[in-house]
Amino acid sequence: MRLRKIKNAGLQLAKHPELVIPNPEIHRGKWKKLFNNNNPIHLELGMGKGQFIIKMATLNPDINFIGIERFDSVILQAMKKALEVKLPNLRLIHFDGARLLDIFEEHEIEKIYLNFSDPWPKSRHAKRRLTYPAFLEIYRKVLVEGGEIEFKTDNVHLFEYSIISFNNNDFIFEDFSVDLHARDEEIVTTEYEDRFLARNQPIYFVKVKLKGVK
Ligand SMILES: C[S@@+](CC[C@H](N)C(=O)[O-])C[C@H]1O[C@@H](n2cnc3c(N)ncnc32)[C@H](O)[C@@H]1O
Repeated sequence: MRLRKIKNAGLQLAKHPELVIPNPEIHRGKWKKLFNNNNPIHLELGMGKGQFIIKMATLNPDINFIGIERFDSVILQAMKKALEVKLPNLRLIHFDGARLLDIFEEHEIEKIYLNFSDPWPKSRHAKRRLTYPAFLEIYRKVLVEGGEIEFKTDNVHLFEYSIISFNNNDFIFEDFSVDLHARDEEIVTTEYEDRFLARNQPIYFVKVKLKGVK
């Protein structure tokens, strides 16, 4: 996500520890305690400016949502939006998804959303794709048995790559579309998704489920 670096973004994030969790490592294995309930936890990795997760948390008060974003200038935008609605079931974390296992214990998460992940088209950058096998191995660990991943993209190459990656890494396909918005259903959109929809571009979607715990 291209966004001008915002001076003091870190300081601004630190002003709202009730929403943007400082030192997320200390909550490893204890996230449900932080939410003060036993509800399922859904994660959005690469949340961007937060439109999707804020709407999802508003519509689903019985699910706890955690948004993760690695760029401080970007998560700051999400924080500002989330502060306007103050949802008890939403927390944000400024963190790199590659280190997910430092903040979540095994089987702590019910669902992961990957929305419009950076495509990293060059093969030498494949390791950075959020559906690269090493990432799927991390998701496999943090997800509960039967846990799910929902993946949306505008990028057909990343979609094909991700389908193969899910398939080769023991995920079961539950749902699939090459034009998600042709469906007659309410779809919660992201900032990127709105941009592609405005250009009439199709949105590719897949939902997979974890087969079992190794
Ligand atoms: C193309 S943007 C999409 C943002 C948002 N999901 C949307 O659909 O509007 C991808 C976002 O993922 C974030 N991201 C990419 N790799 C990440 C990682 N390893 N950990 C956390 N965030 C990551 C980027 O910083 C960027 O904000």
